[in-house]
Amino acid sequence: MSGQPLRLLLIEDSADDELLLLHELRSCGYDISHVRVTSREQLSRALDAGPWDAIISDYVLPGFDGLAAFSAVKQRGLDVPFLIVSGVIGEETAVAAMKAGVHDFLLKDKLGRLGPALARELREAAGRAERRHMQEQLLLSDRLASLGMLAAGVAHEINNPLTSLLMYLDLASSAPSERQVSQEDQQALRNAFECALHIRDIVRDIKIFARPDEQRLGTVDVNQVLDSVLRMAWHQALHRASLVKDYGQGALAYGSEARLAQVFLNLVINAAQAIPEHPTGPQEIRVVTRTEGTDAVRVEIHDTGAGIPLELRERIFEPFFTTKPAGVGTGLGLAICRRLVTEMGGRMGVESQPGQGSTFWVHLRAAQQPATVTSP
Ligand SMILES: Nc1ncnc2c1ncn2[C@@H]1O[C@H](COP(=O)(O)OP(=O)(O)O)[C@@H](O)[C@H]1O
Ligand SMILES: [Mg+2]
Repeated sequence: MSGQPLRLLLIEDSADDELLLLHELRSCGYDISHVRVTSREQLSRALDAGPWDAIISDYVLPGFDGLAAFSAVKQRGLDVPFLIVSGVIGEETAVAAMKAGVHDFLLKDKLGRLGPALARELREAAGRAERRHMQEQLLLSDRLASLGMLAAGVAHEINNPLTSLLMYLDLASSAPSERQVSQEDQQALRNAFECALHIRDIVRDIKIFARPDEQRLGTVDVNQVLDSVLRMAWHQALHRASLVKDYGQGALAYGSEARLAQVFLNLVINAAQAIPEHPTGPQEIRVVTRTEGTDAVRVEIHDTGAGIPLELRERIFEPFFTTKPAGVGTGLGLAICRRLVTEMGGRMGVESQPGQGSTFWVHLRAAQQPATVTSP
């Protein structure tokens, strides 16, 4: 049976103590690969050669001591469990070491504590690493949000000259025939006008994502938001699946356009990513909207992709839960979707047949009807 692998750096001048420590840790189930160093220079080289899961240091060493070793580790910004194991030593020294940030201080004649102490420190270091990772991911999603805002700002700036461009192109292409414009030139002008119209659509689609956090909640035409999102996202799935829109009439929800766009974009991209790159049969993404009575609007994004096993159907909404390779998935999409939908007073969930596909549904409050005033 092989134990938990542990890359251990030992700062220890006694080979006997080395054997003792290794024996103790092996008996606790660690499968150790280690290097023993005795001097500052060796330590520095060993740190270069890392990474290490844990460092165990003697307190008294020829030429330097456990605290100096610890500060060398800290100077490199390494967050590795660092334990000092020492012969008899004064209480004050132990306290000074712990105050400096050494994770634990153990006596050589009480090595029974080493295994549990190391296990605890490894666990805590893993927790710290996880939190750092989460912070990095949050920064990333923050950057994405800022990027969206930047794009929306640029889109806004493009809008004014674009309006003039459209006007001039319209004027030029509808010029009276006595100006002797050739057929080719007329066609070119009409093409230019079409292109400008296309740019206008793109700009409109980008603007929908502007400032999701500042938008006030109000009436949103869900079908219109979906159309924009699908135009933007569609190139992702174009070669993999066909798109079916099945819109109900009057799908007016209470919410914010930008936030709903973010939600639908995440869901559509997930749906596209769930469909294999080289599908065997025909694949489909179906977008359905319905009003439910007068109180609610329901949106469904169906896909014929991989599906989701039952045991993961709640976990996928947890932040950072992803089954996608790094660089493709952050695991934040659904967590953000659920938060945004809840903030708008709605709910969302998923149904799925593994191997056949998934349906993500979003249940939104219907836009408020103008209050009917009844006289007493
Ligand atoms: N339409 C879908 N079909 C199958 N699995 C899905 C679908 N949407 C989401 N998932 C699963 O939920 C996980 C979390 O999704 P999400 O929060 O958007 O993060 P990410 O897409 O970055 O992985 C995905 O990694 C995937 O396993
Ligand atoms: Mg996603």
